Amino acid sequence: MRSVRVELQRMVSPIHIGFGLLERMPELLARHNLQGELVIISDERVAGLYGERLLTALGAAGRSAHFLRVPEGEGAKSLEQCEVLWRKLISGGFSRSTIILALGGGVVGDLAGFVASTFLRGVRLVQIPTTLLAQVDSSVGGKTGINHPLGKNLIGAFHQPELVCIDPALLATLERRDRLAGLGEVAKYALIRDRALFTLLALNLEALTELAYPELCESIIETSCTIKAEIVSADERERGERVLLNFGHTIGHALEAAGGFSHFRHGEAVIRGMAGAIWLSRRIGRLSRAEAQTALDLLTRLAPPAPPPGLRPADLLAWMARDKKRGPEGQTWILLEGVGKAFITREVAEDLLPPALAFACAGEWRAP
Ligand SMILES: NC(=O)c1ccc[n+]([C@@H]2O[C@H](COP(=O)([O-])OP(=O)(O)OC[C@H]3O[C@@H](n4cnc5c(N)ncnc54)[C@H](O)[C@@H]3O)[C@@H](O)[C@H]2O)c1
Ligand SMILES: [Zn+2]
Repeated sequence: MRSVRVELQRMVSPIHIGFGLLERMPELLARHNLQGELVIISDERVAGLYGERLLTALGAAGRSAHFLRVPEGEGAKSLEQCEVLWRKLISGGFSRSTIILALGGGVVGDLAGFVASTFLRGVRLVQIPTTLLAQVDSSVGGKTGINHPLGKNLIGAFHQPELVCIDPALLATLERRDRLAGLGEVAKYALIRDRALFTLLALNLEALTELAYPELCESIIETSCTIKAEIVSADERERGERVLLNFGHTIGHALEAAGGFSHFRHGEAVIRGMAGAIWLSRRIGRLSRAEAQTALDLLTRLAPPAPPPGLRPADLLAWMARDKKRGPEGQTWILLEGVGKAFITREVAEDLLPPALAFACAGEWRAP
């Protein structure tokens, strides 16, 4: 088992990574002194796949748990589902010593995390992420939240988990498409911070997609969590360096929105967004063509789907203008000056955006 520590001002969030950790949950809860009533929140699909196994493991250690299911999919990140969960917790008589275990992908993690941050002004949270995206990204850093009819992730809270338990074996039942989308976020960490991770990914992409080498899977998840933890620890409330994690996300979010949040997986939109950001890095003269092409070749192998037919750059520009991370001084861009080296800039001329968006949407990526 591998371990990463996310050190924040008020607490340390330990992250444990290892094949078979789901069965070892009772041991990990005990090790971190997590006594209290347990409430597992999961979606229908993950509950069907892994709910019994978690309950059995806990039961064998003499710990019972209440199981609350929410519907599958992004729609569950709603005030309506919060209300259902709050109601069950209140009517079930749960106290401040309750520990909420979020068993699922980013949707369950965000929703259950937000419920944990608000119920009785905050109860303890344990993340058990079951998608690659959740294992390398959403379960780390303490952001929780739900969607609002006017926009995604607009309502939420920072609420650090007491513990994150990552069992890569759970990824075996994930669709290949979701594994590739999650590897998109791993590629993001590699491109902004870690050339060695990039090389590891490039050399082993097929094996990683198929979970062929457990050691290697654990290692890339560990490296990804470490990079995210380092950046988040330095900037818990997203005022400075944390924006580096948004590499590929400005265009990515616009693509997700333009696809009605159903056409692209988050990671797939980010893969295309990173290609757009690489194009911009090239055009403003900060990245060599060779480096750009090396990065684009890996993104190509992650095989993001084509954009929905009829998508126009003007629509994407309109979505980008609505991005909540756009400050009063205009859009902040995270661009590359090399594989493993990102920088922050506002110096991107508006007229470069339509061609950058067209590039992000292209069927083939040749560095300009
Ligand atoms: N809080 C953060 O910092 C942060 C960061 C990135 C993304 N997010 C959020 O994460 C969400 C996306 O997360 P996601 O991609 O994990 O989506 P998801 O949670 O909807 O999971 C995708 C699908 O996979 C299924 N699934 C989950 N685990 C499985 C498994 N082991 N085997 C088989 N099927 C499984 C789910 O039931 C679901 O149908 C978005 O709402 C996004 O806003 C949050
Ligand atoms: Zn992301």
